[in-house]
Amino acid sequence: MNDLDELLATAAEAARIAAAHTLERLERPIDIATKSSANDFVTQVDQECEQLIVEHILGERPDDAIVGEEGAAHSGSSGVRWHIDPIDGTTNFVYGQPGYSVSIGAEVDGIAVVGAVVDPMHGDTFTARRGGGAFWNGRSMTPRGSADLASAIIATGFAYDADRRRRQATVLVGVLEAVGNLRRVGSAATDLCWVACGRLDGYYEVGLNSWDYTAGVVIAAEAGARVHDLRGDPPSPTFVVAAAPGVHDALVELLVGLDADGRNSP
Ligand code: IPD
Ligand code: CA
Ligand code: CA
Repeated sequence: MNDLDELLATAAEAARIAAAHTLERLERPIDIATKSSANDFVTQVDQECEQLIVEHILGERPDDAIVGEEGAAHSGSSGVRWHIDPIDGTTNFVYGQPGYSVSIGAEVDGIAVVGAVVDPMHGDTFTARRGGGAFWNGRSMTPRGSADLASAIIATGFAYDADRRRRQATVLVGVLEAVGNLRRVGSAATDLCWVACGRLDGYYEVGLNSWDYTAGVVIAAEAGARVHDLRGDPPSPTFVVAAAPGVHDALVELLVGLDADGRNSP
């Protein structure tokens, strides 16, 4: 039996520990390297945070499985799998910009059920568990009551890979023509939580990893946002779109028309 409130408490505490660590480390020099390309940063703080999170989770729940962006990979027997992004928005972190988050999500038997996202520079903690509503610094939250895509603020993100970016730029032209305005916050987890709390009307992105979106998807859905891939299936690395109910259908129609998930492209 996996109690979702217990899982959420573990996630929230691990995220709080790692988020506090990022703030403390910004006061001291940080080693920065790159991964897949010259703009894909990783810092020693990403690795330190992942280690703190893994230690906390396994200290409380040694039988759980873990996958983390910086290499954490544990198999488990409990049916619980954690998806950890120790710093989602490392570019923001490297430049000292707010918006990066610690993102910790959990699945039980393959279904995303718990999410904790902490954005330390904004002082925001977002939490949710399946069936329990979503909370922003402990208060219940809901998406905006927007109804018109032409005045909606939509966020997206961009891949590190140049070919994928070219396609994303093409889609973006069509999005910009149709929506009220655009934001590039710099963290998929923060984007999803901002849809949940009403700081954005919608968000979409192609090509994420499970650690980018698992926590944020639970939070956005529990807040009352609609969250899917572009064809009505659960969010996946292929595509994630989250939106306030009043603009969801129009946004999805727009993105399908622009072939934003690349399904109809060679
Ligand atoms: C990235 C951020 C960004 C999104 C990228 C992600 P990282 O994660 O979430 O907003 O556009 O697709 O890879 O590399 O900062 O952990
Ligand atoms: Ca990420
Ligand atoms: Ca990351």
